[in-house]
Amino acid sequence: MKFFVDTADIAEIRELAEIGLLDGVTTNPSLILKAGRPFKEVIAEICETVDGPVSAEVTATEADAMIAEGRTLAKIADNVAIKLPLTLNGLKACRVLTGEGHMVNVTLCFSANQALLAAKAGATFISPFIGRLDDLGVDGMELIREIRVIYDNYDMLDTEILAASIRSADHVKQAALIGADVATVPPAVLKGLVKHALTDKGLEQFLADWAKTGQTIL
Ligand code: E4P
Repeated sequence: MKFFVDTADIAEIRELAEIGLLDGVTTNPSLILKAGRPFKEVIAEICETVDGPVSAEVTATEADAMIAEGRTLAKIADNVAIKLPLTLNGLKACRVLTGEGHMVNVTLCFSANQALLAAKAGATFISPFIGRLDDLGVDGMELIREIRVIYDNYDMLDTEILAASIRSADHVKQAALIGADVATVPPAVLKGLVKHALTDKGLEQFLADWAKTGQTIL
């Protein structure tokens, strides 16, 4: 499974990139607002920091304007993935922009039929939002399961399932078990994946015993 981080905070992205954990980054207008910096400048900086796809979202709602914004964003760097909303206009823009060779991440997916349409429009990534469905009392993970089955049924393997709106370590595990291609994870959740009480306890014991040997390695 590939790991993307869901943030526009360059310090957090750098920290994770240095550990070697990042395959890409997703941003959205809300994350750009939180970063409090000019959009295109932030995207350029992220693209220099991470080799993999960096999603940058258009804000137009008409197809022609989405295409124009997408082309502008794609000029920032080769690894920009243009993020388009799952609307008819978004699908139309997706077809044009992927036809030009750009990566497209179709976002705000809340149903299997929407995912089917995005794959037919040539999307590079489909982003089903798990957490926002869970918030409504609907099992978001079921959507990932349905999309996996449909894409496998029809060999729609050119479109990667990018599990989004992830809120917990269990979301990551479940998405991996189902076979999502990518998970985009908030930085705190991503770093939290390493945690286990028995790892901490075991390490403490090993270090204490090592100290008693009076030896050094270097
Ligand atoms: C994905 O690309 C979105 O930016 C993100 O996962 C949305 O997550 P949220 O529902 O926690 O805002």
